[in-house]
Amino acid sequence: MMASLFAAAHRTHAVARSDAAHRLARNPMVRYALLGIVAAVLVMAMLVPVGTAVIEGWSRRDVELRSRLLFRSIRDQIAATRMRADGAGLSPLFDRIAEDERILALGICNDTGALVHATRQMPRSVTCRALALGESDAFTTLTDENRRIHVGAFRLATEAGGGHLLVLHDLAFADARVRTARLYTVLSVAAVAGGVGLLAVGMALALVRSWTRSMREVVSEARHGRLIDCTKGRDMPAGREIAALIDDLRGEKAGAEGIHVEWSPKMLHRLLDEELPDAEVLVVSNREPYIHNRTDAGTTLQTPASGLVAALEPVMRACGGTWIAHGSGSADRETVDAHDRVRVPPADPAYALRRVWLSEAEQDGYYYGFANEGLWPLCHIAFVRPTFREQDWQQYQAVNARFADSIVEEAGRDDPIVLVQDYHFALLPRMIRERLPRATVVTFWHIPWPNAETFGICPWRDEIIDGLLGSTILGFHTRFHCNNFLEATDRFMESRIDREHGSITLGGHETMIRSYPISIEWPPAALAGQAPPEQCRAAVVARYGLPADARIAVGVERFDYTKGILDRVAAIDDLLTRSPDLKGKLVYIQAASPTRSKLGAYSALQDETVRLAGEINARHGGDGWSPIVLSIRHHEPHEVFELFRAADTCIVSSLHDGMNLVAKEFVASRDDEHGVLILSGFAGASRELSEALIVNPYDTRSMAAAIERALGMPAAEQRERMRLMRDQVRQRNVYRWAAQMLLDAARLRKRERIVTASES
Ligand code: F6P
Repeated sequence: MMASLFAAAHRTHAVARSDAAHRLARNPMVRYALLGIVAAVLVMAMLVPVGTAVIEGWSRRDVELRSRLLFRSIRDQIAATRMRADGAGLSPLFDRIAEDERILALGICNDTGALVHATRQMPRSVTCRALALGESDAFTTLTDENRRIHVGAFRLATEAGGGHLLVLHDLAFADARVRTARLYTVLSVAAVAGGVGLLAVGMALALVRSWTRSMREVVSEARHGRLIDCTKGRDMPAGREIAALIDDLRGEKAGAEGIHVEWSPKMLHRLLDEELPDAEVLVVSNREPYIHNRTDAGTTLQTPASGLVAALEPVMRACGGTWIAHGSGSADRETVDAHDRVRVPPADPAYALRRVWLSEAEQDGYYYGFANEGLWPLCHIAFVRPTFREQDWQQYQAVNARFADSIVEEAGRDDPIVLVQDYHFALLPRMIRERLPRATVVTFWHIPWPNAETFGICPWRDEIIDGLLGSTILGFHTRFHCNNFLEATDRFMESRIDREHGSITLGGHETMIRSYPISIEWPPAALAGQAPPEQCRAAVVARYGLPADARIAVGVERFDYTKGILDRVAAIDDLLTRSPDLKGKLVYIQAASPTRSKLGAYSALQDETVRLAGEINARHGGDGWSPIVLSIRHHEPHEVFELFRAADTCIVSSLHDGMNLVAKEFVASRDDEHGVLILSGFAGASRELSEALIVNPYDTRSMAAAIERALGMPAAEQRERMRLMRDQVRQRNVYRWAAQMLLDAARLRKRERIVTASES
C-alpha cells in the first residue's frame, strides 16, 4: 500500500517535473536564450581552430626566426672554436646559450651523423639520423615525453668541418600561448554574445513597452467610446490592423451585431456601467412580473403567461431599477410598502416593482376595451373585427396619463431611461417627454404593426402615432413592422421621414425607428432542475395516462385567437383521418392559459376549442385514448419546460405574431438536441428559426403533413436542425436584445449632450 503510494507520489512528481520542463521549454525567452547559446558555441567552434592555427604558425615562425638569428650570431664563433681546439670550447658556449628559458638544447651533428657538443638537456630521442639532415636549413617538430620540441637544423660549412647546428626550442610556451588564446577567444565570444543578447533584450523590452502603451491607449479609446486614432501603434507588427479590429469590434458591440459576443447578465451589467454610468432605468408595462394572489392556501405567487414578462424579467434582474406595472393580483395590495413598492424576485430581490392600481372601469376601458378589443385585433389581422369605443379611448388616455405621473414619481432624476412596453401605452412616450423633457424614452411595440390601410381604420390613428413619436427610439421585432410604421406615419402625419437612417422628425423631435428581435434568457431559468427528457416524457405519459410509446405533440400558449389553436387541432383531425395508423399513438397536448376571458372573442375561442376537441376525440379516440388533451389552466414555467422536453414535436401555429417566444423556449428546453419545431411563417420567430418546419396555419392539409414529417424525422436531422436553432437562440438572447436598445440609447444620449454643450 505504502509502496504504491510512493510510486504514485513519484509518478506525480515526475509528471510535475516534466510538465515544468515542458512549460520552460515553451517559454519564448528560454528558447531565445538557448538559441543564443547554440549560436555562440558554433562561433567558438569555428574561431578556436582558426585561432589555434594562427597562434601556432606565429609561434613557429617566431621560433624559426630566433633559431636562425641565434645560428647567425654564433656560427662564426662555432667555426673559430672548432678550429681552435677541436671544438673544446663549444660546450660552455652552448651551455650559456641554453640558459635562455625557451632554448632547450644545442648540439652539433657532424658529417658522420654523430651528435657532438650537445648540451645536457638534449633529449635522448633526438638523433642526427632521425632528422634526415640535408644541405639546407630545416625545421621540424618532435614530441618527447609529452613535450613538443622544435628542432632547427643549420648547415655548418667551416674549414673545421661540416655538420649541422641543432637548436632545440621547448614549445611549451607556444602551447601556453594557444591555451591563453583559446581562453580569450571563448571569453570574448561569450562576452560579445552576452552583450549583444542583453542589448537585444533591452531593446525588445523597450519596444514591447512602447507597443503595449500604444495598445492601451487604443483600447482605452475604444472603451470610452472615443474615435480610435489608427496611427497609434502603427509601428507595432499589425498595429493598424489591431486598432482597426478593435474599432470594428466596438462597432459590432455598439450594434450588438457581434455574434462573438456572448450576451449574459454580466455583460449587460457591464454595458450599463460603461456606457450608461449613473443612468436610472425605469420599465413600464401593463403586466407585472410577479402577481400575488389570495387563495385558500394563503398568498401565492404567480408568474404570468406573458412573452413580455419572460423577456424583460431577466433583463431587470441583471440591470436593477424600477418596474412600474398594473397591480392585478388579489393580494398585491397586501404585499407592497407605503409607496406601493415591493422588491422582487421575492427569493432574491434585484429590483423594485411599483404597482399602479386601476379601477374596474379603467381596466374595462383601457385594457379590455381599447387595448385588447381595439389595438390587438387591429394589429394582428386575425380576422376578428377591431372595436373602437369612445369611452374606451378616454380611459386609455386617462390610464396612460396615470402611468406618466407614476414615472415622474419614481424618477430620481430628470433624465431617466424609460423603457415603455407595448400597445397598452401608445400615448405614454409623448406624455413622458412633456413631463421629463430630458428623459430617454425607448418604446418597444411587442405586437405586429399592420400596413397603413389597415392601421388607417383606427379613429385615433394620428394621436397614437403622435404619442409613439414622443419616444427617443421606437422598436419593433422586425424590419417589416418598422417599414409599416414609417408608411403609416408618411400617410397620416406631417413629418419628416429619413428612410436611410430610419428616423422620423415630428414637431422638431426626432425618433429613431429600429428593429430589435426579442428573445429569451439563455440558459432559461426554467431549465434548471429539469429531469432528463426520458424522465420528463415518463412523467407526462403517467400524468395524462398515455400509452408508453405515444408520439407526443404539444402546444403551449395563452388561449388567444391569434395563436391558431383551432387550426392546429383541425390539422390533427386531418392527419388522423388520412393516417389512421396513428390512432392510439399520436396525442396532442394543448396547454392553454385562460386570458382576457371577459372578452367575447376569447370565451368563444375557448368554447369552440373544447367543442372541436370533443368532436375529434369522439371521431378518432376510443379505448380510454383521446388524441386531443386540453389542459386549460395557468402553467408555471417549470411545467411548460417539462412538457417541451417530453414532446416529439412542438406546434406554434400563430395566425400572426410579433415574435412568439414559445418557439424559442421549446428550442432552449431541448438540450438533448431532439424534438421538431413546427412554426408558423406568420410569427416573427420564423425569420430567425428557419430550421423549423415552417407552415401556413391556414393550410390544414400542409400543417397535417408537417406534423407527419416531424414524427418521422430521423434523429440525425432533428439534431442538425435543433443545433442550428439553439445556436441562434443562445447568441441572440434577450440580453442582446436589451443591449442593442441600451447601446443605441447611450449613443443618442451622448450625441444629445454634445449638441447641448455646443449650443450653450
Ligand atoms: O406582446 C403581447 C403581450 O403583451 C405579451 O406580453 C404577451 O404574450 C401577452 O401580450 C400578454 O397578454 P396579457 O398581459 O394581456 O395577458
